[in-house]
Amino acid sequence: MEPVDHEPLNVHDYERLAEERVDAGVFGYIAGGAGDEHTLRANVDAFRRVALRPRMLVDVSAVSARTTVLGHDVSMPLLVAPTAYQRLMHRDGEGATARAAAATGTVFCQSSLSSLRPAELAVEAPEAIRWLQLYWSRDRPFVADVVAEAEECGATAIVLTVDVPFAGRRERDLRLAFTLPEDLPLPNLSPNLDRPLDPGAGLGPIHDEALTWRDLEWLTSRTALPLVVKGVLTAEDAILACEHGAAGIVVSNHGGRQLDGVPASLDSLPEVVEAVAERCEILLDGGIRRGVDVLVALALGARAVLAGRAVLYGLAADGEAGATRVLELLRDEIELGLALLGCPTPADVTPAHVIA
Ligand SMILES: Cc1cc2nc3c(=O)[nH]c(=O)nc-3n(C[C@H](O)[C@H](O)[C@H](O)COP(=O)(O)O)c2cc1C
Repeated sequence: MEPVDHEPLNVHDYERLAEERVDAGVFGYIAGGAGDEHTLRANVDAFRRVALRPRMLVDVSAVSARTTVLGHDVSMPLLVAPTAYQRLMHRDGEGATARAAAATGTVFCQSSLSSLRPAELAVEAPEAIRWLQLYWSRDRPFVADVVAEAEECGATAIVLTVDVPFAGRRERDLRLAFTLPEDLPLPNLSPNLDRPLDPGAGLGPIHDEALTWRDLEWLTSRTALPLVVKGVLTAEDAILACEHGAAGIVVSNHGGRQLDGVPASLDSLPEVVEAVAERCEILLDGGIRRGVDVLVALALGARAVLAGRAVLYGLAADGEAGATRVLELLRDEIELGLALLGCPTPADVTPAHVIA
């Protein structure tokens, strides 16, 4: 890859900077996907297959990317996806990323595999809108404690990831013998269970593989926080998520890191949108690298998107400043894109603004 010898202009520049600045194993862990990485590539390519259909002579003198997600005012329809082990990407880890989200006015979703407890994150980034992503382990009292702590400390949603009964096989990690450092704190994992195995080899006991939709009742009875179900790819599961009390759904294939061969998440979005029929908010992640990608997702029915790798590249390249800059660049791209599409706000983007 060409070295970046100018001020980074976009997510691609941050990706190259990240590759220069972190260990090959860590970069492979961020960038890689499962199996032959068909789904990983499909996520990005899907956006290139949908063309925008702009309208002219619309008053865009006061364009704004502001919107609401689960009742929160956010500066743009792009949130920070939950991603594991951020301290490997930069020593400031999740605190840095959460402050970047706060500085740019959007949501930070904390992974279960973060190096901070929900209460510690609240101290590090008190201004951030914080959601907690959950891997639901067999140690239920521990899960209940983490959820209760998040709620007490001001988190405003629980995001249950449902596409990881086992971790996908990520061959880049195996090839580069990527392992977690022994001293990486993972305080949201039950001390009664083992540490997760190395990422390439599986996830260990951090998630109860026997969970079914009926178990969601236990979770919703433990917390007043809205539940977001992350990892839905079909109309059937979207309906089940709504029936089990989800306030939101993330259409997601985990960034191509789980079942290789599933469609790009953008291609699964229409069937979920149709099935849900506005019973809950629909978010999408996977492959977001540009502001125009966000516009395409909005046109096909998402309320907002989440960005995983894009933010991690900023964090890996330059800590809090890098993550903040990535989010600013994406917000600027979304705003310019809205203006050129003839849409003063995200709510003005409709299916008529794309040729799918
Ligand atoms: C390095 C990395 C770690 C991730 N860790 C988690 C995690 O702990 N929990 C989770 O629900 N999703 C996790 N994801 C998936 C993201 O939340 C999201 O679905 C995905 O990154 C979206 O695709 P994108 O990276 O193309 O934006 C991870 C993704 C990456 C790249």
